[in-house]
Amino acid sequence: MEKYIETLGLLVGLFSIVAGIDRSHFPPDFLFGTATSYYQIEGGYLDGRKGLSNWDVFSHLPGKIKDGSNGDIADDHYHRFKDDIKLMHSIGVNSYRFSVSWSRILPRGRFGEVNSEGISFYKNLIDALILKGIQPFVTISHYDLPQDLEDRYGAWLNSQIQEDFGYFAEICFREFGDKVKYWSTFNEPNVMVYKGYLEGTYPPGRCSEPYGHCSSGDSDMEPFVAAHNVILSHATAVDIYRKKYQEKQGGSIGIVMSTTWYEPYEDTPVHRIAAARASAFEIGWYLDPMIYGSYPPEMTQIVGSVLPTFSSSDKKKLNNSLDFIGINHYTSMFAKDCLFSVCNQGPFTSNGSLLRIGHSNGVPVGPTTDMPDFYVTPKGMEKIVLYVMERYKNLPMIITENGYAQKSDRKLSMEDFINDEDRVEFLSSYLTSLSRAIRKGADVRGYFIWSLIDNFEWVFGYSERFGLFYVDFNTQQRTPKLSAKWYKEFLEGPKIKT
Ligand code: NOJ
Repeated sequence: MEKYIETLGLLVGLFSIVAGIDRSHFPPDFLFGTATSYYQIEGGYLDGRKGLSNWDVFSHLPGKIKDGSNGDIADDHYHRFKDDIKLMHSIGVNSYRFSVSWSRILPRGRFGEVNSEGISFYKNLIDALILKGIQPFVTISHYDLPQDLEDRYGAWLNSQIQEDFGYFAEICFREFGDKVKYWSTFNEPNVMVYKGYLEGTYPPGRCSEPYGHCSSGDSDMEPFVAAHNVILSHATAVDIYRKKYQEKQGGSIGIVMSTTWYEPYEDTPVHRIAAARASAFEIGWYLDPMIYGSYPPEMTQIVGSVLPTFSSSDKKKLNNSLDFIGINHYTSMFAKDCLFSVCNQGPFTSNGSLLRIGHSNGVPVGPTTDMPDFYVTPKGMEKIVLYVMERYKNLPMIITENGYAQKSDRKLSMEDFINDEDRVEFLSSYLTSLSRAIRKGADVRGYFIWSLIDNFEWVFGYSERFGLFYVDFNTQQRTPKLSAKWYKEFLEGPKIKT
C-alpha cells in the first residue's frame, strides 16, 4: 500500500508540472470546494421522521434506474457526515456545496409540521463544517420535492407550488441563514424540467412530443408551464430573502444552471444562429426572466404563442433576482440548424431549434468520457463563462459543478478507479480554461468539483463514479483517489523551490 501511495504522489507531482495550472492563477478569496446533493449521498431515507421525496418514490418504480438501485442508503452520509467533513478538510477545501432535503424538513410539503429532527440534522452539518473552516453553500432544491406535493396537486404544474416553495425557502433562511452565506434556489431547473416533463426520465416521468420513446405524450405545454412555475418560485423565495433576511444575515442568493457550450456545427450564419438558439433554450429560458423580466427573444420568435406570460408584478419580483449565477459545466456539443429540415434528434425538433450531435452520430465534439453525451472539451469552459458574462452584465459567477465520471460496469478494479489520471487531466485542463476566462475579465468567484464521493448518479444508479473519493458501497469505506491528492496539492499552492 505504501508503495502505491508513493506512486500516486509521484503522479500528482508530474501532473502539476504538465498542466501548468496552480492556485496562484485564482484570486486569494476564491471559493474552492466540492459539491453533492441530498438524494445522491444522504441515505437515511425514512430516518428522523423524514417523509418521502419524489425521488424516493420514482427510484423504487421498476425499470427507472439502470442498475435497479435507489438512494435508500446511498453513501449513508446522514450517519457519516462528520467523517465526510474530515475528508473535505483533509484535502483543504474552503467550501462545500450541498442540498437540503425538502421532505426531511417538511415531510408532507406545505401540509403538516416542520420536522425538528430534519432541522437539527442540517444545523449539525453546518456547525461541523464551520468548525473546520468550510463555508456552507446551500441548494434549496436539487431536483427533489416532497411526494405529497406531487400527489396533491401536481407539483410544478400547479401555481400553488410558488407559495409552497417560498414557505420552504423561508424556513431555511430563518433556521440556517445566520451561518449560510450562499444560497441557490434551484439546482439545474432546466434539467429537472427537461427530463421530468419532456423526456420523461426523471420524476414525475411525464413526456411531451416529440419524444418518440414516451409511451404517452402528456402535453406539449407542460415543460413551459413547469418552467414558468419554477421561475416564479425562484422569484418568490428571493423576494422573501431580500425583504426579510438578506440585510440582517449578509448572504447572497442565486441559481445553478446546467450549461452546455454549443459550438456551431459549421461556421456559417445559420449554424451560428442555431447555436445561439440552443443556448437560449437551455439557459436563457430561465436566466433572461430572472435578470431582464422576460423570456429570451430567441424563444419568443419560435414558441412565443405558447409561452406563459409574466404579469407586471411578476416582472417586478423577477428583475435582477440573482446575486450570482451558478454554472454547472461538463461538456460541449455541436448545434446544427434544422429549423426547416427534418431533424430526428434533440429536445425541440418540432420547433426546429437544434440538433444535438454526439458520438452516436459519429461527430463527437471531443474525446468521449464514461457518461453518455459528456465529451472532454476544456475550451468550452472558457467559452460558456464568456458567453454568460456578456449576456448577463458580468454578474458574479460561480462554477458550481465540474467533474468526470468513471463507469463501474467497465469491470475495473478498485485500484484502477483510484488511479484516476483521466480525471486529473480533465480537471486541470478545465481549470486552465477557466483561468483564461478570468484573465479576460469574467467575474468568477468560485469552483466546485462534482463530487466529493462516488454517489447515486440518478438514472445510472451507482454505475457512474464522479467522486474524488472512491466508495465501496458494501462497506461504505472511502478511499482517496489520485484526484483527491491532486486537488489537495493544487489547493496548497505552488511549492517554493529552495
Ligand atoms: C449535475 C447534477 O447537478 C448532479 O446531480 C449530477 O450528479 C451531475 N450533474 C453529474 O451528472
